[in-house]
Amino acid sequence: MKLEQEQKVDLVRIANQVRKWSYAPYSKYQVGAAVLTESGRIYDGVNIENAAYPVTICAERVAIFKAVSNGEKEFQAIAVVTKNGGMPCGSCRQVMAEFSPEMLVIIADENETIKTEKKITDLLPGAFRADSLT
Ligand code: THU
Repeated sequence: MKLEQEQKVDLVRIANQVRKWSYAPYSKYQVGAAVLTESGRIYDGVNIENAAYPVTICAERVAIFKAVSNGEKEFQAIAVVTKNGGMPCGSCRQVMAEFSPEMLVIIADENETIKTEKKITDLLPGAFRADSLT
């Protein structure tokens, strides 16, 4: 399903709006994400840091895990917003690839300017997936 421009703008806006709930007292780098399911629902997420630094979880994974824990496993797109339009980390790319290799990843900055738009297959070519286990 091709995404309408309006849907992309909505996802980016939501990802940017939730950044205010980011818990990032250590890095001060606030990240917001919004994932659009095949069924048309949107789940948001923010990065949640911890004094034990490695326990931190990224915004993208919070959004995807919220969706999965509500019964959603197929995604059309995810928007990720940071102050400077930073790219998703490798762990988040791996989680995206698990569910929907065709999903579109939209990266935007705090002005909601889209910096990059790529399918997850292009961001993580040759991902380790379920068929790797057979
Ligand atoms: N972070 C994300 O939320 N998503 C990413 O894809 C990269 C990094 C967060 C983790 C940490 O709270 C902060 O950004 C700095 O690394």
